[in-house]
Amino acid sequence: MYKISKELAELGKKRIEGHPVEGFVWGSGPANPAIMLVGEAPGENEVETGIPFTGRAGKELMASLESVGLAREDVYITSAVRSRPYKWGTKKKRNGETVERKYNRAPTKKEIIAHAPILDTEIQDVWPPLIVTLGNVGLQRLIGPKAKVTELHGVLMETPILYWNEEEGVFKETAEIYHVFPTFHPASVFYNPPVRALKDGDWQKLKGLLGKIK
Ligand code: URA
Repeated sequence: MYKISKELAELGKKRIEGHPVEGFVWGSGPANPAIMLVGEAPGENEVETGIPFTGRAGKELMASLESVGLAREDVYITSAVRSRPYKWGTKKKRNGETVERKYNRAPTKKEIIAHAPILDTEIQDVWPPLIVTLGNVGLQRLIGPKAKVTELHGVLMETPILYWNEEEGVFKETAEIYHVFPTFHPASVFYNPPVRALKDGDWQKLKGLLGKIK
């Protein structure tokens, strides 16, 4: 089971200090995973369990994996950011009382940069045959801000990916070519049900690629 080093996790925690985020969820998977999944950031459930994709989106993702003959143990799961980005909001309780609570939110560019060395190292060390991005955050982290999941989903890309260059303070393209397969974030089907058919279609296309890419 490959896991990032304690030092790298500590560096990530330090770099993200001062941002409204909490917890740290380790990405992990076997030494030679069938695919690497790149999500957005952990949510409330994941910070509680310490395991990526263990909430409602996780259930959806596990069903997709199962539909192509894979299980959690076969894949490496990580994300652009490894701490939970949150914002405060109010929730009205059934008795009419309002309480302050934390809500999940998308990570900011600064938070993505803070944890970029973690994802860069994971990709280099694991060297997965195929990187499956889940949603726009993972896709844009690796391909650039103009990439859109609605346009690129379900098609295999052979492309350089972006890594964070600390000296110059910019994302740069790798010299190596990677296989990247963009698809929707599993949670997107909850707020946009028609996406389900597209997402399921992508996973069936992905099934045809498994084991064929070195
Ligand atoms: N979304 C992600 O990107 N990662 C998780 O672990 C959970 C939800």
